[in-house]
Amino acid sequence: MHEIIEKLDEKRALAQAGGGERRIAAQHSRGKLTARERIRVLFDPGSFEEWDMFVEHRCVDFGMDKNKVPGDGVVTGYGTVNGRPVFVFSQDFTVLGGSLSEAHAEKICKVLDAAMKIGAPVVGMNDSGGARIQEGVASLSGYAEVFQRNVWASGVVPQISLIMGPCAGGAVYSPALTDFIFMVHERSHMYVTGPEVVRKTMHEEIDHEGLGGAETHTTKSGVADASFDNDVHALLFVRGLLNFLPSSNRAPLPERPTYDAVDREEASLDTLVPDNPNTPYDIRELVDKVVDEGHFVEIKPDFAGNIIVGFARMNGATVGIVANQPMVLAGCLDIDASVKGARFVRFCDAFGIPIVSFVDVPGFLPGVAQEHNGIIRHGAKLLYAYAEATVPKVTVITRKSYGGAYTVMGSKHLRADVNLAWPTAEIAVMGPKGAAEIIFRDQAGDPERLEARTQEYKEAFANPFAAARRGFIDDVILPHSTRRRLCKALTMLRRKHVEAPWKKHCNLPL
Ligand code: HXC
Repeated sequence: MHEIIEKLDEKRALAQAGGGERRIAAQHSRGKLTARERIRVLFDPGSFEEWDMFVEHRCVDFGMDKNKVPGDGVVTGYGTVNGRPVFVFSQDFTVLGGSLSEAHAEKICKVLDAAMKIGAPVVGMNDSGGARIQEGVASLSGYAEVFQRNVWASGVVPQISLIMGPCAGGAVYSPALTDFIFMVHERSHMYVTGPEVVRKTMHEEIDHEGLGGAETHTTKSGVADASFDNDVHALLFVRGLLNFLPSSNRAPLPERPTYDAVDREEASLDTLVPDNPNTPYDIRELVDKVVDEGHFVEIKPDFAGNIIVGFARMNGATVGIVANQPMVLAGCLDIDASVKGARFVRFCDAFGIPIVSFVDVPGFLPGVAQEHNGIIRHGAKLLYAYAEATVPKVTVITRKSYGGAYTVMGSKHLRADVNLAWPTAEIAVMGPKGAAEIIFRDQAGDPERLEARTQEYKEAFANPFAAARRGFIDDVILPHSTRRRLCKALTMLRRKHVEAPWKKHCNLPL
């Protein structure tokens, strides 16, 4: 028995040594943790159970039969994050550059299958040179098997991708199919074709960072949801994010005891909206002041700042927040904001997370670029997402809510459950000035009369009462009572159940 144990220890040590000391040192010298170190940061201490440590690739070409490392460049298994199970795969760049062989892919597929069966999130840590070049099509089939499972798991269990090194070529499409992508500054890159190919084929000069670094993907392309200075910060953020998420689409919302009273009043909210309707204010202040303990975790904070999305808790249970931000583009909805909002609303709906919307939106952003790039197609995504969502939906209009954007942003007509408005709300087809200029065009030559007409329109529509008279707004509330009113509504809605019409799947505008 003693010998058997010694042999097992030896085999384990070999697998745990990955690509060896030299390559581990190189990994560290680049400011990156190893695959196993990352797993240790992610999970509760001592909770990680490794699977498939002894798996080896089966390739015999190009001398590969003599180039085998147990585990084959990816560490997989499960552990707990704050006591709840989570599955993981963590690519080991020290073993053949973390490249994906057929066997490596099978290990990833095994955890994805298990996660779906058990109903637990999957965290994937990507640090890989892509398809194992020596394996050819066997490696490509491995990727496709992973993609297929990413798609099956979508909407069943939360899938979170961390890009912590290279992630290039078709390999980018596994993270792209998951719910969230997080990157590490200057250590991670994502692109379909690298700078060299771009230079040769398109004659465009750009480096790795500019083409597919964290800043590019969090501010320009919107591919990534947030970026961090180093591996540890990224992993700790993911631990925090997992605390907000249900384990699966059939699991209950995670709840935490809160010391923040549900009837806490915030007097400062009564003066949040400036007297001048064109003066911006920071909607984050409202979010921070109404959610439990002011704890709000923003998703895509550096992209499409005209809409803010993220997770918080109210009365201890997770909610998804969607808020127009008057500080950026006056809070208008444009293409990027529509897509950002739509994707977030759909995630919340898939996982039973109630949606709280704070509305101050003058409309969709006008302009040739917006029209030519498809604001119709992309704006429809946000509309579709709100209309399709059957989770509890509560909306508070703080100021402007004009035109199509009024209907889109969680209106009663798209089946929001509780719609509240502050007394400063203006709900109409458009702003009073624009409205008067159209309907009283014949008085355009007389500015004084036009101004009087504008005031008439303002009194008639630029308030919440026209909508409240129709029951489109359930109540006009004082801003300081917003938290209390939201908590009450969300508690009442915990029992909400809606059946959507049967369909194979929807045909969301893409
Ligand atoms: C096999 C690979 C590999 C790969 C790296 N290695 N990528 N082995 N297949 N795809 C090995 C290297 O030979 C080296 O082995 C070790 O990993 C570390 O690589 P280095 O090049 O020394 O590291 P670095 O200088 O940091 O450069 C990293 C890199 C580069 C930028 C990722 O290795 C690279 O360009 N690799 C090839 C990338 C690529 O073209 N992949 C295919 C993409 S297409 P030793 O033994 O020296 O340590 C794709 C299709 C997917 O993935 C399709 C899905 C449908």
